[in-house]
Amino acid sequence: MFLMSYEEAEKIIHLILQKKKEKGIQDILTYLNGHFTYYNWIGIYIVKENKLCLGPWIGTHPTEHTEIPFGTGVCGSAAQTGRTEVVNNVHSDKRYIACFLTTRSEIVVPIKQNGTVIGEIDIDSDSLNAFSKKDIQFLEKIADMFQTYICNL
Ligand code: SME
Repeated sequence: MFLMSYEEAEKIIHLILQKKKEKGIQDILTYLNGHFTYYNWIGIYIVKENKLCLGPWIGTHPTEHTEIPFGTGVCGSAAQTGRTEVVNNVHSDKRYIACFLTTRSEIVVPIKQNGTVIGEIDIDSDSLNAFSKKDIQFLEKIADMFQTYICNL
């Protein structure tokens, strides 16, 4: 369920970034969490010394996984391959590192600069099979928009 189109959301996110640059990222997470009701927890991980370090996030609870090595969990897999990971049912993916009891599906979208992974958008949903091809396309565009700004977080 979402309250507006992906295209409209993309435009709004672009405007927030133009105006507030990296300071806009927290606003964008708030916006996504509010408008895409199945994006229940959203975090930005930033690559530092071959580890993923948690940056801005939004959701009901904090995660204890604030540092994830490359190759570990769904996040670490996406960081290693540079490819978006969609897990339709987290309980049937052996790589999954549990953060929240309510999570049922997850998407991890790498943020790349010149082909190198510099960060990730990680979204946990409380619904099974929450993420469609549209979400993948949309979030990959957002990841592209973020690449210039996350180095300064
Ligand atoms: N579930 C992730 C860990 C990060 S939390 O979802 C915030 C994983 O398997 O890598």
